[in-house]
Amino acid sequence: MTAATGEVPSFVQTEMRGAAMALHTRDQAPREGKQPAQRPMSSWQPTRADYLQFLVDSRKVYRTLEEIVEETEMFASFRASGLERGAALDKDIAWFAATHGEKEPAVKSQGETYAAELRKMVADGELERFVCHFYNFYFAHTAGGRMIGKRMAGMLLDGHTLEFYQWDGDVDQVLLPGLRTKIDALVAGWSREQKDKCLAETANSFKGGGAMMQHISP
Ligand code: HEM
Repeated sequence: MTAATGEVPSFVQTEMRGAAMALHTRDQAPREGKQPAQRPMSSWQPTRADYLQFLVDSRKVYRTLEEIVEETEMFASFRASGLERGAALDKDIAWFAATHGEKEPAVKSQGETYAAELRKMVADGELERFVCHFYNFYFAHTAGGRMIGKRMAGMLLDGHTLEFYQWDGDVDQVLLPGLRTKIDALVAGWSREQKDKCLAETANSFKGGGAMMQHISP
């Protein structure tokens, strides 16, 4: 509880976000990043094929997250958050084929491996770990992901904004706060040990998200 308001501070906003921000490099998040700078996005030189691969692998992971949430009763409150990205990516991947004849490539090992890891942790009952990946993958996309999208649109797509970066509804004011509240409500029933298990997974969620970026970064 905070003395001033009597409200329980949000676990997502304080602890999960804090753990994630500390793992950013200084060039990614200059105010909050704590890791040494790497090669900044301004130096990335991907091709359209690289970017399409990033989208295809990302879709594999979103589809897996979305299927798990549909199949798992404990995550029923995460359904229909409005942040789902699988259908938007279907349209974008079809757009590459329709407008430029660029065929959809097969999912590469980055996408397959991460999707398999997510499935395994849920099959093993490690639901706290899954919540960490779920949070980081969706929220990262609305922050750094949107920055990547703008850069790729300018470099590779003549400024075309993909569906991947458009949501039905106000993402910052409505959809993200809505999902934060749902995650906080689930975590409210957890022991400190369960919360720590979730937080300890943050580095692995950066590994998974970082694997997608291998397709477009040096
Ligand atoms: C937030 C940049 C990669 C997870 C942020 C913010 C920035 C940023 C600037 C702060 C947004 C704000 O509160 O004003 C980047 C860049 C990345 C990157 C440039 C790569 C080029 C990642 C990765 C993950 C991640 C790989 C994890 C999979 C998060 C999370 C937040 C965040 C969870 C908090 C979002 C929120 O509170 O709404 N990122 N990031 N980011 N990032 Fe990243």
